[in-house]
Amino acid sequence: MQKAAPKSFKESVAIAFSKSLKPKSVTDKWYDLEGLLGKDRVVIVTKTHKSAMRANALMKLLDEMSETNKTENVPFAHLIIVCLGGFFDTVYDYLDNHSIKNVLLYSVDEDSNKLIEAYSTKNGRNIAKKADKQEADTDAKSKPKRAKKTKRVNIGVFTSKGGVGKTTISAHLAGALTIMGYETALIDLDPQSNLKRLIGESGIYIKNEKSGVGNTMSVLGAKEWDEEMAKEVKAIVCDCNPELDKNPTAFVKKFDFCIIPITLNPLGINKHASVVERTIEAVRAKNKKAKFLILINQYEPKEGKKNKILLDLLKAEVDRIGRVYDGVELIDPSLVSIRYSSQLFYWGLHTITGEKGSELAFEKIGARSIPKDDFYKLGEFVATYVEM
Ligand SMILES: Nc1ncnc2c1ncn2[C@@H]1O[C@H](COP(=O)(O)OP(=O)(O)OP(=O)(O)O)[C@@H](O)[C@H]1O
Ligand SMILES: [Mg+2]
Repeated sequence: MQKAAPKSFKESVAIAFSKSLKPKSVTDKWYDLEGLLGKDRVVIVTKTHKSAMRANALMKLLDEMSETNKTENVPFAHLIIVCLGGFFDTVYDYLDNHSIKNVLLYSVDEDSNKLIEAYSTKNGRNIAKKADKQEADTDAKSKPKRAKKTKRVNIGVFTSKGGVGKTTISAHLAGALTIMGYETALIDLDPQSNLKRLIGESGIYIKNEKSGVGNTMSVLGAKEWDEEMAKEVKAIVCDCNPELDKNPTAFVKKFDFCIIPITLNPLGINKHASVVERTIEAVRAKNKKAKFLILINQYEPKEGKKNKILLDLLKAEVDRIGRVYDGVELIDPSLVSIRYSSQLFYWGLHTITGEKGSELAFEKIGARSIPKDDFYKLGEFVATYVEM
């Protein structure tokens, strides 16, 4: 028999929910069904793909729902997602960390074809460990993957251009990886020692909002890093000195990949590209294996038309650089980018004034925080990229 085609899956989900709510099929919308749960309007999204859903896809749906709610007379109160392949841990962690109260997740039991509640506000996470079958399957089949997962990943945040967000990105990426449960060390290689000054000896304690328990992300100078003492560290994020030669070679040699921040600035995409090329050239001279991820910072998603023009120019430049050097990738900003936000702007200001301290710009405005969402997506992207 043919495997659940999108339409029949949607229909069987509608039937499965029909006891508790009256779902109505919709077309040409970002969701598949809508209905009433008591007095509340709900939307249901069905995903037939067999791979587990990631947090970045969840965030997209939450954005869609708040956009839609701006124009609905009676706003949707709940979002129900049914995903055949289940959900990655990052999805549960994201919901817990944001205390999001209006999302219900379901996966489908393979044998009985019944819906299984994977997450609800009332009961929290209902699936013991990884709901994500895919990963359990591959783990069972190929043991080496586990070994890979325990390896440490070294990340350099580097560009020879000043002021494009190296410090901002290193600190908040390290914060996101800490929230995701990886033991993370942030290494300050910049002689200005902004990070060390701002965050201080005690590091940053980042709390999981739901459990109230957290993890400490430590911040160290190059000289304080002790390979032996920090065996449990799974991710090292280096805020590099813009002059590559001033960064200790021992660190540069270890980079598995570099994140190169760039802005989509109309003045000088070509200039930016030559900065990227010089950056890669400098790292390659010391490190043959590192890959390069170009990340757009200070992104303004509302500037659709302008972004497309600049992005096409940038893509052409990155393609050209990719023909010279291996392992160069531009991260599509619709997938992951760091948006411009006042929280990050003021956080950066504090690195100069030295006030505040010991906090990342993850505080929420309303239900969510733009920087926290963006860096969580980046953390998820990185973890997938290197199979952490
Ligand atoms: N996404 C963003 N939204 C708003 N402001 C940002 C963003 N990213 C960076 N900034 C601001 O831009 C300024 C420069 O950022 P940052 O210090 O991280 O750059 P840098 O590359 O580390 O600079 P340097 O070369 O001096 O080390 C800071 O004031 C910071 O707050
Ligand atoms: Mg800096």
